Amino acid sequence: MTTPRPEILAKLTPVLTKRWLSPDAWRIGTYEKLDGYAALRKAVKAHPDDLIQLIKDSGLRGRGGAGFPTGLKWGFIPQGDGKPHYLVVNADEGEPGTCKDLPLMTHDPHSLVEGVIIASYAIRASRAYIYIRGEAVHAARRLRNAVNEAYAKGYLGRDILGSGFDLDLVVHSGAGAYICGEETALLDSLEGFRGQPRLRPPFPATHGLYASPTVVNNVGTIASVPYIVLGGAEWWKTMGTEKSSGPMIYSLSGRIANPGQFECSMGITLRELLELAGGMQPGHNLKFWTPGGSSTPLLTAEHLDVPLDFEGVAGAGSILGTTATQIFSDQDCPVYATYRWLEFYHHESCGKCTPCREGNYWMVRVYRRILAGQGTHDDLDTLLDTCDNILGRSFCGLGDGATSPVTSSLKYFKQDYLDYIEGRTAPKLSDKQLVGA
Ligand code: NAI
Ligand code: SF4
Repeated sequence: MTTPRPEILAKLTPVLTKRWLSPDAWRIGTYEKLDGYAALRKAVKAHPDDLIQLIKDSGLRGRGGAGFPTGLKWGFIPQGDGKPHYLVVNADEGEPGTCKDLPLMTHDPHSLVEGVIIASYAIRASRAYIYIRGEAVHAARRLRNAVNEAYAKGYLGRDILGSGFDLDLVVHSGAGAYICGEETALLDSLEGFRGQPRLRPPFPATHGLYASPTVVNNVGTIASVPYIVLGGAEWWKTMGTEKSSGPMIYSLSGRIANPGQFECSMGITLRELLELAGGMQPGHNLKFWTPGGSSTPLLTAEHLDVPLDFEGVAGAGSILGTTATQIFSDQDCPVYATYRWLEFYHHESCGKCTPCREGNYWMVRVYRRILAGQGTHDDLDTLLDTCDNILGRSFCGLGDGATSPVTSSLKYFKQDYLDYIEGRTAPKLSDKQLVGA
C-alpha cells in the first residue's frame, strides 16, 4: 500500500463528509453543536428569491449524475401560480457501484433534512418527500429519526423558527426497483402507481408530483445547500473548476488498497484518487474503470490524468455520472464485467419501450454465447447494431446507459472478445448457462 504524499492528502476537502466520523453525528444534539441548523436560521431571514440566486451564483450542479444546474432548476418553479409546490429528494441510489448517498444519510441525516427545509423555503414548497430505496432500511430508520427530532425542535411543522413558513417532510421507502431512480418513474411510484418513466417534456419543474411544480434533486445536491448558505457562493467556488464547482464525493471500489469515499475538489484525477486510496492491490495493474457507475462509458489506464469533472470526463468520451469509480485490473475481464452489468439492465428494464426491453434481452444472450466459447465474429457487429438501435431510441436513460459498457468495452478491448471467439480464452460460462435470459 502506498502512503499518499502531503500534497495529495491536501486534495481532500471534507465538507459534506466532515461530520461522518464524529460520534453520534446522526443525533440532533451533536449536529447542532457542529453548526447544525445554523444555515436554516440564516436562510429563513432571507428572501426565497435571494436563496435561489445564491445557489445559482455558487454554480452547484446536480450530484445525481446529470449535473444539471441546481439554481436554474429551482428558478423554473413558477411562482404565484396558485398550485402546491413540492420538493422531492431522490435517495433511490441504485446505479451499480454508487454508494455516496447511503453513508451520508446514515452518518449525517440532519444535513439532508436541513437542506430540504432550506430548499423548500426557497421554492415555496410546503410539503417535501425523501424517496429512499427500499433496501436501505438502516438509512431510512436514521432519516425518520432525524425528521422526528427536527419536528420536536420546531425545525419542521408550523411556523418554522417563527418565520411563518410551514413544511411537512415525509420519508418514503421504495420497493427496490432501479427504474424508480429515474425521476418521473419515482414520481409515479410516490403517487402509488407502478414506477415507469413519463414522457419529458413537460419536466417535473412544471408538471411533477400530482401534476404540480416539483423540484427533484439528489441527496448530495440538497445536503450541499446548508454549507453554501453558511459559507457563501464564493467560498463554494474556491473548490472545483470553473464549470464544475465545489467538492464531490468520489466512491472508490474494486482492486484498490483502501476502498471508500474520498471527498475532493471536482477536477481531481484518478491518478491522485488512487494515491489517496493507497494504490492498487498488490499484484494488480489498472486495466479499466468507470468514472461514474456502469452507465458511464469505461475508461482505461490511458485516462489516469483526466480531470474528474463534468467537462473533463466528457472530453475523454465518457460522463461523470455518479462518481462511482469502480477499478478493475489486468486480472478482471471486461467482457465478463459488461455481461454482468447487462444482466442487471435486462433485469431492471421496466419493459415500457421495445429497444431497451428487447435489446437488453438479446444482448445478454449474445454475451452468454461469447462467454461460453460459442460466439462468432458476427456477434460483435450484432452487439454494436443492437446498441445503435437502443441509444437515442429508448424512452429513458436506462436504455442508453446499458449501451455504454458494451460500446466502450468493444472500443478498448475488442481483443478480449476475439480471444473468447477464437478460443484463446477458456470459456467462463457453461453450455447450461446459455439459456434462461
Ligand atoms: P437529464 O439531463 O435529462 O435531466 C437532469 C435534470 O434536469 C432532471 O431533473 C430534469 O428534470 C432537469 N431538466 C433537464 N432539462 C430541463 C428543462 N429543459 N426544463 C426543466 N428541467 C430540466 O438527466 P436524467 O435522465 O434525469 O438523469 C440521467 C443521469 O442519472 C445519468 O447521467 C446517470 O449518471 C444518472 N443516474 C444516477 C443513478 C443514481 O443511482 N444516482 C442511477 C442511474 C442513473
Ligand atoms: Fe423502461 Fe428501459 Fe424504456 Fe426506460 S428505456 S422506459 S427502463 S424499457
